[in-house]
Amino acid sequence: MLSKLPMEFEFDHVGIAVSSIEEGAKFYLALGFQVQHIEEVESEKVKVAMLEMANQSKIELLEPTDPRSPIAKFIAKRGFGIHHICIRVKNIEQKLEVLKKSGYQLINESPKMGAHNCKIAFVHPKATGGVLLELSEPTSL
Ligand code: CO
Repeated sequence: MLSKLPMEFEFDHVGIAVSSIEEGAKFYLALGFQVQHIEEVESEKVKVAMLEMANQSKIELLEPTDPRSPIAKFIAKRGFGIHHICIRVKNIEQKLEVLKKSGYQLINESPKMGAHNCKIAFVHPKATGGVLLELSEPTSL
């Protein structure tokens, strides 16, 4: 378990399911955060707002734009709150391959393009002890 290998992983963001970006952002704006970026991800039927911190980790607010959205389904089942965490990795394809070979359940077996030109893939909560995990690799494009 213990090793001196250089660490490649970085915390990227926590995703929070909210009723609306406006409602969800109120508290953080009061605290002094700024909304850096809002975008609608049509494929996921979700509106996303990013609140960035000094160390470049972020809070991602997720507002469903359609009742069929995975986020809407999550809210119906579990209520508002933490939906996933995201860790930045290098060589995401290789990471997914290793996990698959080890028998861990993946939601995305190969990466797809997410916001900010990142390759992303979700790992099933069954694999991680109950946390939906997003792996993300920034591309230079
Ligand atoms: Co995310």
